[in-house]
Amino acid sequence: MVATRLRVDFPHPAHAPEAVELFDDEFIFSRERSISFAQRFSDVFSVPECFVAVGSVTGDLVGALLVRPFTWSEGAREWRGAMMGLVCTKPRFRRQGYAAQLLAASEARCCALDLDFGVLWAAHDGLYGRQGWMRSDRGMLGVRRAGQAGALPVPPLAAANLVRAAHALHEAREGPRVNRRLSNYRHLLPPAEHVVVIVEGDSFALCGCHDQTGYVYDIVGTGREMPGLWHRLAAHFGDIYVNVELGTGAHRWLEAHAGLAWSKQSLAMWKPLRRDSIPFAAWYVPFMDRI
Ligand SMILES: CC(C)(COP(=O)(O)OP(=O)(O)OC[C@H]1O[C@@H](n2cnc3c(N)ncnc32)[C@H](O)[C@@H]1OP(=O)(O)O)[C@@H](O)C(=O)NCCC(=O)NCCS
Repeated sequence: MVATRLRVDFPHPAHAPEAVELFDDEFIFSRERSISFAQRFSDVFSVPECFVAVGSVTGDLVGALLVRPFTWSEGAREWRGAMMGLVCTKPRFRRQGYAAQLLAASEARCCALDLDFGVLWAAHDGLYGRQGWMRSDRGMLGVRRAGQAGALPVPPLAAANLVRAAHALHEAREGPRVNRRLSNYRHLLPPAEHVVVIVEGDSFALCGCHDQTGYVYDIVGTGREMPGLWHRLAAHFGDIYVNVELGTGAHRWLEAHAGLAWSKQSLAMWKPLRRDSIPFAAWYVPFMDRI
C-alpha cells in the first residue's frame, strides 16, 4: 500500500538540478567517487529527447530516474529504445512503492513517445521483474588483477583523431548497435575519471580509467589485430576489467590468449513497450553506451 500518490514529471535534465544532485549523492559522492553526472553524462544530457522522471510528494523530491531514448540499428532495420538508469529513492522514502511508480510512469511515457523497448541494468530482479522486465545478458567480464601499475604511460585521452577512427569502426560493425555521435565518446561511467581510446588497425578499445585500473567499456578486434591491442591494454593498466560480448572475435581471442578470469554477466533487463516480438536474447549494449 502506498500512503501518498506520487506526482511524476518528466523534465529535461537541464531543468532538474535537484534530481541530478540526488543522482550524484547516491551514485557518486556517497560512494567516494568524484565527477558529477552533469559532466559524466554531458553527451546524454545535451540531447533534447533525454529526460528525468522526477517523483515528488507535496512538492518534495522523493526519487528520480534517468531515461535515455536511443536508436538501435540492425542492418536496415531500426528500433527506438529507452535506457533507464540511476533509479533512486531518497532513503527516508524507501520501501513505499515509489520506485515502482516512477518506473511504471516512465514506461508509460516511453510508450506515449512510441518507443519500442526499454533496457536497464540491475543486479536484483526486485521491482523490475515484478513489472515484467526480462533478464537476458550476452556480457562476459574478464578480469586481470596485476596489483601494480602498467609500465607505459597512459596514452592521451580521447584524442579527436582516435575518436573518429573508433567511431568509423563502430559504424562499420556487423550486427546490431547503438547509433552513436562523436560526443558519446566523452561518456564517463563511474568509477572512471577519464576515457582512453586505443586503436590498432581495424580494432579498437574504449577504456575508462581510474588510477591505474582500466575498465574496457567496448572492444572490437579481429584475430590479426588483437595481439597488438591487448599488448597495449596490458602494458598501460595494472588491474583490467574487460567487458565484452559473448562469442565476438575479441571475446574469443581474449579467452584463448589473455589469461583473464572470466564470469558471465547477468545485469541487462529488457521490456517490450509495443506488441512486436523483439530478439532481446541476441542483443548486447556495450558499457560504453549505458547509463
Ligand atoms: C532500489 C531503490 C530505488 C528502491 O526504491 P524504493 O522506492 O524503496 O522501491 P519500492 O518501494 O518501489 O520497492 C522496494 C521494495 O519495497 C517493497 N515495498 C513497496 N511498498 C512497500 C510498503 N508499503 N511496505 C514495505 N515494503 C514495500 C517492494 O515490494 C520492494 O521489495 P523488493 O525488496 O522485493 O524489491 C532504492 O532502494 C534506492 O534508491 N537504492 C539506492 C540506489 C540504487 O541502488 N538503485 C538501483 C540501481 S539498479
